[in-house]
Amino acid sequence: MASRYDDVMSLSVRRGFLWPAVDLYGGFSGFYDYGHVGARLKRKWEDLWTAYFLGLGDNYHLIDTTTILPEASLKASGHVDHFTDILVTCTKCKESWRGDHLIEAVTHEEAEGLTPAEVDARIRDLKIRCPNCKGELGPARPFNMMFPLGVGPVGLDRAYLRPETAQGTYLNFKREFEALRRKLPMGLAIVGRAYRNEISPRQGAYRLREFLQAELQIFFDPATFGALLPVDSVRDEPVRVAMAGEKHTSDARDRTAADLIKGGVPAFYVYHMVLVQRFYLDRLRIPRQRFRFAELDERERAFYNKVHFDVQVSQDSLGGFKEVGGVHYRTDHDLGGHARASGKDLSVPVADRKVLPHVLELSFGVDRNVWALMDLGYELAGERSVLHLPPALAPVDVGVFPLLSKAGLPERAEALYRDLRPSFGAFYDETGSIGKRYARMDEIGTPFCVTVDHTTLEDGTVTLRERDSTGQVRVPGTSLASILRDLLDGRREFRTLGSAVTRA
Ligand code: GAP
Repeated sequence: MASRYDDVMSLSVRRGFLWPAVDLYGGFSGFYDYGHVGARLKRKWEDLWTAYFLGLGDNYHLIDTTTILPEASLKASGHVDHFTDILVTCTKCKESWRGDHLIEAVTHEEAEGLTPAEVDARIRDLKIRCPNCKGELGPARPFNMMFPLGVGPVGLDRAYLRPETAQGTYLNFKREFEALRRKLPMGLAIVGRAYRNEISPRQGAYRLREFLQAELQIFFDPATFGALLPVDSVRDEPVRVAMAGEKHTSDARDRTAADLIKGGVPAFYVYHMVLVQRFYLDRLRIPRQRFRFAELDERERAFYNKVHFDVQVSQDSLGGFKEVGGVHYRTDHDLGGHARASGKDLSVPVADRKVLPHVLELSFGVDRNVWALMDLGYELAGERSVLHLPPALAPVDVGVFPLLSKAGLPERAEALYRDLRPSFGAFYDETGSIGKRYARMDEIGTPFCVTVDHTTLEDGTVTLRERDSTGQVRVPGTSLASILRDLLDGRREFRTLGSAVTRA
């Protein structure tokens, strides 16, 4: 029987979402391409993310920076020395593995943050052999995950493909601070590509070597940030959290924001956890029990973080809760590092003080989020295969069909399609039975379809069909655009349309 992963990937490939890159040449491990439908879903996710997160502050902005960075800047950020995973190579077949993953596969407990000596000891104790050939595993060693480059005709200038978008905002912090009239908090977001030479990108589209990040860096004055935020307004809001000691279980507990603050998580941080959770539950419509924050302890968290909770979504295709993002309190780690290495003062005037801003980073992997939506949305019920994407994210908003390809119906349907096209992602189709056309739209997640039939020619009404319920109502062609806009923007629900239509 095909696994859930195979089912979702099969739909993905069949209908043009995403697939392994360069398969013409046997594939290219860790690289995936988006097809015509996937590219639209990804773009809509990015647009939704950008609108929501830039909307969190008056002084939050999108910037765009280079993907190649000189070695000096990544030495200053700590990536040259610390951006490592523990590599273990088989002495027989020479296959390479991530040491923590080998241990996790046996113990089913996270092993991130172990030193090479600790990985060696656990491999010995657990008698772990090469999963590929059962050969003996060689000594564990740190492996830097950045892709090195030689820039210039003889490659003398050492550089790397950026391992995270975040660094672009730190390098441009001072210029933006001046251009934005010297105000804190200041938010700088980048949506763009990042690159990591992952040791074992074996989980399909989950662990990629080239991937997309959407990251917002909030630069703030640590002395005043908490007091500036309306923390009181979220105090009673339950947040789904697994603390460091609890996250090996498959669940999470609701804790109020107030409880988390009482437990020692900074108030400004908890406030942003609430906003991130709202994005997932309200905008992406992730079911509550499928969402959680998972705390990382001192050993597990990234070298630049003081407080670190992963954002996780439980996905059956990936075996449970998986990281799709993170909320990172990076302190002044990055600006401090760049100031020391460049010799430039990156502190800024705040009233009568000089402040080196701290950074709260809201970081998300676009590809992982797109996959999560496909995993959660895909339903295979008997013959019916449906992708229940949130309407606002569906690659196609509305399918437009003539019931039959004769009797003046195609002309009328095409005219309607042309009317809708400037404002909606509309798709016209007149081939095959109407049932097959609905089925094709269901599979790519199109939330609504409109059919033109003989009654349309008589009274101007059309049939509007909803993907999730397969319910149908007749609506006047003249109000179709405004009804669709309300449905897609979530201002109206399809089941309320019946009476509205009768009144129309
Ligand atoms: N700027 C902080 C940062 O890069 P991270 O936890 O290393 O933090 C942020 O990465 C997000 O980027 C992750 O939560 C994940 O969604 C995504 N990501 C990281 N590595 C990835 C990979 N190899 N493939 C796909 N997405 C990845």
